[in-house]
Amino acid sequence: MRKKYADLFFVELGSNENTYGPSPRAREVILDNLHALHRYPDPLGADLKKAIALKHSIKPEQILLGNGSHELLMMIAQVFAGPGSQVLASQYGFAVYALAAQCAGAELVIANALPADAEQSRGHDLHALSSAINEKTRVVYIANPINPTGTWYSSQAFAEFIERVPANVLVVVDEAYLEFVTAPELQSALALSNAYQNLIVARTFSKAYGLAGLRVGYIVAHPECVAVMERVRESFNVNLLGLAAAEAALGDDAHVQWVLEKNAAERAWLIEQFQSRGLKCGPSQTNFILIDFQKDSADIEAKFVNSAVVLRPMRGYGLPSCLRVTVGNRDENRQLLKILDEVMA
Ligand SMILES: Cc1ncc(COP(=O)(O)O)c(C=O)c1O
Repeated sequence: MRKKYADLFFVELGSNENTYGPSPRAREVILDNLHALHRYPDPLGADLKKAIALKHSIKPEQILLGNGSHELLMMIAQVFAGPGSQVLASQYGFAVYALAAQCAGAELVIANALPADAEQSRGHDLHALSSAINEKTRVVYIANPINPTGTWYSSQAFAEFIERVPANVLVVVDEAYLEFVTAPELQSALALSNAYQNLIVARTFSKAYGLAGLRVGYIVAHPECVAVMERVRESFNVNLLGLAAAEAALGDDAHVQWVLEKNAAERAWLIEQFQSRGLKCGPSQTNFILIDFQKDSADIEAKFVNSAVVLRPMRGYGLPSCLRVTVGNRDENRQLLKILDEVMA
């Protein structure tokens, strides 16, 4: 019999959101800005760009703000690829890269991922990716760490990869989850921004900064690349409250640090809990974990939904045996495990 949702503690672990929410300072500036809702936002987002530039020791001209990084990931293919050209991504890469290629009318080429039993299970194979580049390739989309696998590759491996990529091919490194990384061998690709004019790094305020609902993301790229995209984007693509909240959130290192510590501890605990139940999962450097049930997981997912725990099915990614689980807070994680035990029994 179907349970009544009203009796259940609803647990949303399907979209890799930040369960702890944004900095209290972001909430305060949102209230402070309510008097200005009838005004358009700053079309240049100058204050936020200045704050981001200061944070990463880059110039504001290297930054393009977006209505979430999703908007910018889509726009890159539309601006720089098109019919007759190719966009390259990895098997099991983030779904938006394929959509971006499709919307641009470009041919999507998928390089094989690492095998399931590799240390970085189903992660990007950077050698397969560089081997798939040809004269038609305009854009390569990769993530680090990777959604949906949670895996990663070292900064050294990335430095060697971008050396193999021709200078006229744009390399987009999607770092939506970079803040959650604790592995010392993985640092942001931003360190290479000045060395490679064809490097674009995408970041977001939706994850570690807890502002998914306000839709703010950005890319860091060569100023000429940014200038072209500035001409194409909508005039007021980032909203007033989003600009103010992102700037305030960026300034609250202590809050973000607290979120990251909580996430790292809960991530390690959850992986331990899954493994002690004989489940195949991890590793992860993100705020989510991919579990491989090693059989079709549709029924398992349905049982979770029926118990008010939302997880992300992976059939669309070609991984029907897997479910992706956001790392929640301890109460959410306990509820997840309680339902998992019922499901597995
Ligand atoms: C790898 C990756 N990139 C980008 C995004 C989009 O983030 P945003 O909220 O900034 O559009 C997501 C969202 O889940 C993601 O997983």
